[in-house]
Amino acid sequence: MSSEKLFGKGLKAYYNGDRTPHRIHRDDGYVEDTNFDGYFSEHDDWPKYEKDALREAKGTVLDVGCGAGRHSLWLQQKGFKVTAIDVSPEAIEVAIKRGIRDCRVMSALQLSFGQTYFDTVLLLGNNFGIAGNPEATKKMLQDIHRITTLEGKIIASSRDPAVTDNPAHLKYHELNRKRGRPIGQVTIRIEYKGELGDWFDLLLVSPSDMARIAEAAGWKMERLFKENAGYAAVLSKL
Ligand SMILES: C[S@@+](CC[C@H](N)C(=O)[O-])C[C@H]1O[C@@H](n2cnc3c(N)ncnc32)[C@H](O)[C@@H]1O
Repeated sequence: MSSEKLFGKGLKAYYNGDRTPHRIHRDDGYVEDTNFDGYFSEHDDWPKYEKDALREAKGTVLDVGCGAGRHSLWLQQKGFKVTAIDVSPEAIEVAIKRGIRDCRVMSALQLSFGQTYFDTVLLLGNNFGIAGNPEATKKMLQDIHRITTLEGKIIASSRDPAVTDNPAHLKYHELNRKRGRPIGQVTIRIEYKGELGDWFDLLLVSPSDMARIAEAAGWKMERLFKENAGYAAVLSKL
């Protein structure tokens, strides 16, 4: 089963009151237990950089990889017209139940909106890197370019992988250098209630790498909000 599907199952169970956490396995054997609380958190509990960046949202909004829909819900409550997409049907089920009016099961890698153009596209919760590597990320950003208005922008977040002194992460960066990959390209899979999902790649980038990949796809980094490793950026069209 795909890890996104397992993640969605976990979100759905959490929504129904089951607080079982999930475990993230990295391909060097590193594991991290994580609960789903953050995906259901309220605006007050979000990092400042996320709140600051979200204040830049304008017009019609597309929330890519919405999960349980915390950002969509907040924007909708503020009066924005929001469309939320996620590759996981279970995540979309939860987002609908939580009150997001326009939700669709759709992959960020196959965006299809016909003649609809968005003013703001969200790639939050580290979703700048959901395509998994720099080439695929460039293609995703080019596709977003096509489905946005001339004044369109992207609000994206990531974590700077270099901001760490954890020996396990530093060793992983070394492994990535050896296999010719960016240090922040992490191969991970989800374990939930004893089930293991398939491996997938998530790309974590520094702000300068985000700016470089974005520029190759027709975007420039207009604003940056940063706190330690975590940050969010506003990208506008070149
Ligand atoms: C880390 S969660 C972030 C959720 C939400 N943006 C937040 O910040 O709370 C990543 C979400 O992206 C979704 N996702 C992963 N790959 C995707 C893809 N290719 N297209 C659409 N959604 C995707 C997952 O199913 C998951 O719900």
